[in-house]
Order: sequence, then C-alpha cells, then structure tokens
Amino acid sequence: DPIAPPDLSTCKLAEITAGGETVACCPPVTTKIKTFKPDLSIPLRTRPAAHQVTDEYLAKFKKAQAAMRALPDDDPRSMVQQAKVHCAYCNGAYPQVGFTDNDIQVHFSWLFFPFHRMYLYFYERILGKLIDDPTFALPYWNWDSPVGFPIPDIYTDTSSPLYDQYRNADHQPPVLVDLSYGGKDDDVDEQTRIDENLAIMYRQMVSGAKTPDLFFGHAYRAGNLNTGKYPGTIENMPHNNIHIWVGDPTQTHHEDMGNFYSAGRDPLFYAHHCNVDRMWNIWKTLGGKRKDITDTDWLDAEFLFYDENAELVNCKVRDSLEPEKQLRYNYEPASLPWLFTKP
Ligand code: C2O
Repeated sequence: DPIAPPDLSTCKLAEITAGGETVACCPPVTTKIKTFKPDLSIPLRTRPAAHQVTDEYLAKFKKAQAAMRALPDDDPRSMVQQAKVHCAYCNGAYPQVGFTDNDIQVHFSWLFFPFHRMYLYFYERILGKLIDDPTFALPYWNWDSPVGFPIPDIYTDTSSPLYDQYRNADHQPPVLVDLSYGGKDDDVDEQTRIDENLAIMYRQMVSGAKTPDLFFGHAYRAGNLNTGKYPGTIENMPHNNIHIWVGDPTQTHHEDMGNFYSAGRDPLFYAHHCNVDRMWNIWKTLGGKRKDITDTDWLDAEFLFYDENAELVNCKVRDSLEPEKQLRYNYEPASLPWLFTKP
C-alpha cells in the first residue's frame, strides 16, 4: 500500500540526529482537510535561474521573503513553520498511520522527488500570495552548469531577507560548488572542479540513471522502515553534498543546510531544491526507460501541506507529475553542459 498522509494529531518531537537531541517541529493541527485539485486558472509561472534574475524580480522576491519572515511563528505560512514542514517529514515527527513503530521519512526513497516538488509548490504559492502576485516563481540554483556553480549572489547580501547566517564562510562566491563534497575542501583548480562536476552530473543523470529505480530511489510503502540505504542518484549526489557544502561546519549539526531539521530555514534551500526538481523534468526527456514510476503505491502516496490561504491540503504523488499542467510552472531553459561531456 502507499504511504498514508500523517495524522497531525499524533505528531511528536523530531530528532535532530537519530536517537539524539529533539526539536519541536509539529504544525498547527486542523481537522478540515481539502483535496488538492489542479487550478488551471493560475497563470503559468516560469522559474528563473537565480544567477541572472532581473532587478525587478529580485525586488519582488525580497519583498515576498520579508513578508513570510514577518508572519507570526504560529501561522503555518511563516518562514519558521515552513522550515518545520521539512523537519517534521524528515526527522521522524510523524508515526506512520497504522504502523506507528515506523516514522514517515521522505528521503532515501522514491518519495524524495514528489514530496519536495509539492513542498516547493506551496512555498512558492505562499510567497506569491504575500505580494499579491500569482505569477511569482521561485528561482533555481543552476548548480549543474559552470555559470551557476557559486552560491547565487542574491542570497549573500547580509542585509537581504534571502540571507542566512549559518552557512560555510569558506564557500562564498566566487567559490565553485563541489558536487561531490564530503566535508573537506580539496584544493583543485577551477578547470578540474568544472570537469569533475560535469562528469558527476553525467553519471547521475545519464549513465547511472537508466531506470526509474536508480533515478528515484527504491520503493517505500506503508509499513516499511526507511533504512536510508536506497536514495536515487541525484538525491544521493549532488543533492546531499550540496547541503553539506552550504551548511556551517562550526555549528553542531551543520546548520542550517547541513541537517534536515534546519535546512528549510535557509532561503537557499528552496533554490537548491528547484534545481533538483528541474533535474526530474530533464531526466524524463533523456529517453530510454527514463519515465515516471507506474506503481500505484508511488502514485497514491499522500502528503499534507498548508496552502497560501493557511488551509490544509492533501496531495498525492500523482498530482505532481506534470508540473505545467497540474501545478502551472516550468523552468527558464538553460544549457546542459554535462549532457555532452561523457567522461
Ligand atoms: Cu529534504 Cu534537500 O532535503
């Protein structure tokens, strides 16, 4: 059977590390739950590459992010609560309904891509609503291309609402991201870094991701214990490595980006995940067996999110497969230098 949506009334403290320190991440409880329906009246939104947004766009984005930060902490649309969404689904706050020994864990499995897609969707809709602009679209961090390797500048202005103080001070622009970062900086020249990063992208998207099982990660069904062993290629690398590369190594748990519980506190998280999400779209265009999973235990897995009106919505994985049609967004096109750099 598919993973069932959480019962918010059973939400418990989340664990920052397994069996370790705990943290409160539960959302406000509501009993009224709407069912997600695609809203075709929403204008199509195009998510731009973060390193080349216009001044006009940046002004809007900052205004929206500031408004989200200004909401009271108990508003489910506030920055604090949005970060807790990730914490609750990822640090073991939700026992599986009917299988309470096992918690819901949306990483390391086929739930990774669809969960984060819907999470971004609602986050983006909330930002748009706060500035009364239904065309607002999140930017993506174009880390699969040399022009986008550094942290996008718009996130590093310390006076901006897009800034987060808990990041690795040694990884500020113009330092290029290391897509295979394992916690230590290796001292390679820029060309080597570029070549290595592009080779990783080729492997994770093309040569190493020929089947849905490899790309999405293994099946995860109701009652299953998620052992963390079977992530998909992109989730495993570079997605995880980028989290660690951005997080602040002087903080106990590599906050913010370096731990699930705190990652959503950094606005850069959402740009990072937009690019992860973009990779799902691109992968489906690469041919062969690169298609969405057809197993109904995937298609009918369910999540709950608060929407832009602070109403709780139930969505299924199947609601997320065609972003243009179902969620009304797409991505500003960019070149794919890794596609032609077969190592
Ligand atoms: Cu839910 Cu990038 O992690």
